[in-house]
Amino acid sequence: MIAGVSKAFRQGRRTLEQRLRRAPDTRSEVVAVDGIDLEVSTREVFGLVGPNGAGKSTTVRMIATLLEPTRGKVEVCGVDAVAHPQRARRHLGVVIGGERSVYWKLTGRENLEYFAALYHVPRREVPRRIERVLAEMNLLDRADDYAERYSTGMRQRLSLARALLQEPTVLLLDEPTSGLDPRSVTQLHERIARLRENGHCVLVTTHNMDEADRLCDRVAIIDRGRVVRSGTPGALKAALQVDRRAIVRLSLRPGGADDNLVSDVEDFATIAEKSIDGSDLHMVLHLPLEVDLLPRLVEVSKRHEAVLRTVEIEPVTLRDVFLAATENGGRE
Ligand SMILES: Nc1ncnc2c1ncn2[C@@H]1O[C@H](COP(=O)(O)OP(=O)(O)OP(=O)(O)O)[C@@H](O)[C@H]1O
Ligand SMILES: [Mg+2]
Repeated sequence: MIAGVSKAFRQGRRTLEQRLRRAPDTRSEVVAVDGIDLEVSTREVFGLVGPNGAGKSTTVRMIATLLEPTRGKVEVCGVDAVAHPQRARRHLGVVIGGERSVYWKLTGRENLEYFAALYHVPRREVPRRIERVLAEMNLLDRADDYAERYSTGMRQRLSLARALLQEPTVLLLDEPTSGLDPRSVTQLHERIARLRENGHCVLVTTHNMDEADRLCDRVAIIDRGRVVRSGTPGALKAALQVDRRAIVRLSLRPGGADDNLVSDVEDFATIAEKSIDGSDLHMVLHLPLEVDLLPRLVEVSKRHEAVLRTVEIEPVTLRDVFLAATENGGRE
């Protein structure tokens, strides 16, 4: 989809006088996107994640033909999007800046009629398409209300309905779930999954690692304009697991004095935290993943006549991968 794409912005602004004098532009540049390659296939949900200022929105806007790359190639469904932005746009549905992309003084339906005309949807098709996207986004019953009376979630759905009007192959969604409640997020995820089943190709940006994990087939973590990790969420987590130590939360009720028990635990793990709550002893252990934890715990607690009450082994999450990949992350 995009290859070696970069974008540099000039910082600050030129005064009117500098412009009139045609003074040379001496502003410094900030490289927002620094040679990113991405390939997204149909029937795929691809996640672009990264800290604030990483270059996600800039990347999306370049693919959306709203911003011209300084360098590199953008291709949408075989169309060179830099040379032929109009043609590329026919394949694109874009949701950027969520609720701001609808007209508040128009009703939901009027918004869609307006955009259908703008996108050159064949006139005979318009009513059918509008009904379809309204139904798809669950907006039929509020279609004739002003958009300014919509909730954030409804405006977000209206933006998505708008993006679907042209029946695009590629959907670009910049933070589609920001501002949505958990149920709306789940519903949006289901809709996105349905779009994938229908053969769409979806590129979505998010800060939410749980979301990326649940929603995306593949993710690219970008930091300071570069891809620092990419792959399926499972593969990224597995790769991190190799050099990470497991974290285990443990509580047990010691039979007698707990000093020896603690030193026996220290034989195979580092005790990161220890606290006593009534007769229960809580510990957070860090240990290398190769330690076969459960048999050793059982053995130690038997030896000291302690009762194991809870053992929680924390799994590696995509959030851990994100934090490891974007150390001191971001620019801001
Ligand atoms: N029009 C612009 N002019 C100058 N600098 C810009 C412009 N747009 C973005 N930038 C800069 O480019 C960098 C990347 O911004 P971008 O919006 O792509 O980040 P992001 O990953 O979307 O961040 P966030 O998670 O906060 O939305 C930032 O340093 C930003 O200040
Ligand atoms: Mg952004």
